[in-house]
Amino acid sequence: MTKKRVGVLISGSGSNLQALIDACAQPNFPAEIVLVISNNADAYGLTRAKDAGIPAHILNHKDYASRDAFDQAMHQLLELHLADIVCLAGFMRLLSDGFVKNWHNKLINIHPSLLPSFKGAHAIRDALAAGVKITGCTVHFVRAEMDSGPIIIQAAVPVMQDDTQDSLAVRVLEQEHVCYAKALRWLAEDKLTIVGEKVGVSN
Ligand code: GAR
Repeated sequence: MTKKRVGVLISGSGSNLQALIDACAQPNFPAEIVLVISNNADAYGLTRAKDAGIPAHILNHKDYASRDAFDQAMHQLLELHLADIVCLAGFMRLLSDGFVKNWHNKLINIHPSLLPSFKGAHAIRDALAAGVKITGCTVHFVRAEMDSGPIIIQAAVPVMQDDTQDSLAVRVLEQEHVCYAKALRWLAEDKLTIVGEKVGVSN
């Protein structure tokens, strides 16, 4: 089996990166992580990558004149490592149209809400504020508009009366880790078909 080569983009703790590292360590998993890129030098995910022996690169967006220039630098690194798939795992930068087009249907994201509800950087806070009784997480193909694109998998998480942002985030993250590994497996096995906004999973 030729494994698909995956680049993971992070900005922070990297618990989803860890879930993907652990998934890739399973026998017969169809993908391997070949590089991690962080736009934040202090991201704990960089330590996770190092511990797993994965090349990790820090690209500080502030060192680039424009979003396009920063995205181009990321693109070049991904190409250099012969990445087939790019996973956004808590990567908190908007991507340029050019980058999204270059990785069309090879670029997936995890988001801590049941999209299309609660897009943006504060999904957990916004779900709590809206008083929803069920929230969750979504893995989706990335399109130019933020937190949009065909949905691959979702999981529901009940909101408890006494939930805080932290307590809810912990339970959503548990589901994110399960969903992200499944989505990457399906994508790497070429099991996903996209028709309009709908994603099918073949057996
Ligand atoms: C995760 O909850 C992820 O869904 C979210 O950031 C967190 C990163 O955690 N992403 C977004 O909100 C993107 N809009 P992690 O660094 O531990 O994986």
